[in-house]
Formats: sequence, structure tokens, C-alpha cells
Amino acid sequence: MAAQKIYLTRKIPNIAGSLLKEKGYIVDVNPDDRVLKKEELVGALKKGVYDAVLCLLTDKIDASVFDAAGKQCKIFANYAVGFDNIDLKTARDRDVMITNTPGVLSETVAEHTFALMLAIAHRIPEGDRFSRAHKYKGWGPMLLLGIDLAGKTVGIVGLGRIGSLVAHHASRGFGAKIIYYDVKRNKQFEKDYGAKFYETIDKLLPDADFVSIHVPLLPETHHLMNAERFQLMKNSAYLINTSRGPIIDEFALAQVLKNGGIRGAAIDVFENEPEIEKQLLELENVILTPHIASATEETRSKMAEIAAKNIIEALEGRIPPNVVQADHHHQ
Ligand code: GLV
Ligand code: GLV
Repeated sequence: MAAQKIYLTRKIPNIAGSLLKEKGYIVDVNPDDRVLKKEELVGALKKGVYDAVLCLLTDKIDASVFDAAGKQCKIFANYAVGFDNIDLKTARDRDVMITNTPGVLSETVAEHTFALMLAIAHRIPEGDRFSRAHKYKGWGPMLLLGIDLAGKTVGIVGLGRIGSLVAHHASRGFGAKIIYYDVKRNKQFEKDYGAKFYETIDKLLPDADFVSIHVPLLPETHHLMNAERFQLMKNSAYLINTSRGPIIDEFALAQVLKNGGIRGAAIDVFENEPEIEKQLLELENVILTPHIASATEETRSKMAEIAAKNIIEALEGRIPPNVVQADHHHQ
């Protein structure tokens, strides 16, 4: 039997290629370190050649891509926990397996979320800009006052692995009070953290000093945070988002940050990546990181390993551990 062939849509940590080559597969990688345009991806997949594709969250995988990949392509292994970039229904109709890389990045994303929370509350990027601009003329009792996280109420929207870890850090590390909303109630979590469940996001928002978003991007979560919901938040509250950009109406966010409807925001993801709503770039009370919440050396290697192992399982005729389906809700 001819060696099976795998296409990687972009260079990722070496471990993936090594694991796949060890199995005797032929591995082709997009030679340019950039996202392929749709027609380039379709061209690269050359109907009928690849048995598996390792793709990234920046690749839109839809019917035209499945068509190009052809019938012998058994699996698209997404190098991400989120999989909103993939048309799961079409994948199911064509019997293509889709996998993600859950679990290994939860700690890292939770840490980044936490870093953003502390950085916005303690005005760290703002203070850094201030110092670099030679504006620091001496200690001042009222200089760049922030707020404490200790004792505040943290509202978690979406209690998956990442949301739970953020709650853990806030509660155990800072004595924050935890409130949460999720489609599913988790009584054990409530017991463990003295957390309070809210049946709707609208009820949770007025009670939270920090709102941290951890839901997947789905039609129902698009613009989950919009002008009306910002109205429900405290003027003193902060919004943190490390999930997916389109969950927030970015234009509305800029408005509410400008008019003091909320105190600040720290976001790692954007509505139209890599573009960022222009008004946000001018504001002091927002932190903008470039979709790097899972970007640590350790985690990106582990993600590469898992994506490769998902492919190996599929090509060896087993069901990979991280298959996702169209009705999947939790990331
Ligand atoms: C990153 O955003 C991921 O979904 O892994
Ligand atoms: C990601 O792994 C999550 O469960 O939130």
C-alpha cells in the first residue's frame, strides 16, 4: 500500500511532523509561514491526494475545501480547541472526522485570562505606556489608581474547562466571589467554590465586577455581548474575552468604553481578525492582545502532538479521542 499523505496548512511545532513521519506517512507543509488563501488551500489539497489534513483556526474549512480534499480524506484535525472555522454539518454529511485539541491549553488560556484581568484592574499596560512616554514625575497618591480583584465578584460566562480554571484562580488565589452562567448547571462546582448559578446572562451581568467570557462561538453566541447587555453591566465593571471575537459586538464595546458604561475591557480575540475596531486602538481603558492566549511553548507543542495523534488514530482505523460533532456545545 502506498504511504498515506498528510497536509499541514501551516508550519506548527516540529513534534507533529515527527510523529507523523515516524508512522511512515508523507507530510507536506505549506512552505510559507502565513495563512493560505481559500483558493491556495483548495489548490494545495489537489483532489484525491491527502488522507488527512491538519488545519488551523485561521483556515475556513467549508464544502469547497472538503470537495478539493476528496473522498479518501478521512480527517481534518484542527490545531485549536475552538472549531467554529469548520463546517461540521458538511463534514458529517461527507463522513469526514473533525478533531480539536481540548484540555492541554486550558491552563494556559486561563493564565492569560487572569493576566488580562490583573493587568486591566491594575492598569499595567497604561502605566507602562505612561512611563515610556516620560510622564512619570514622581510618586503620587492618586496616580493611576486601579481596583483590587480581592473580594470582588467574578462572573464566568461559560463554565467549561477554561472558565472553571479562571474561577478557581480567582476564588482560591484572590478570594473573589464566583458567579456563573452556563447552559448546564454544575452543583459540585457550586459546592467547591461557594459559587452562585444564574439562569440567564442578563441576571448575572448587573452583579459582576469582572465578566469573563468562555463560551464557544455558535450562531446563538454571536454578539452575545452587545449594546443592551453592556447596559446591564456595572459602570465599574471590566469585561475580559479570551474565547472568540464575534461573541462581542466590537463597535458597541468601543462605544461603552468611551462613554464610561463600563470601566474597562481586556480582549485577546477580535470580531474580524486580524483587524481591530479602530476606536479601540485609541482608548486607554482597553487591553488588546493578538490572539495569544494559548501561545506558550509548552502548550503549542502539546497541541501539535494531540493534533498529530488524532490523525494517527483516524488513519489507523480507530476513532480519535477528540472527535467533535455538530451538536457539540462545550469547548
Ligand atoms: C485558540 O483560540 C483555540 O481555539 O485553540
Ligand atoms: C477548553 O478546553 C474549555 O473547556 O473551555
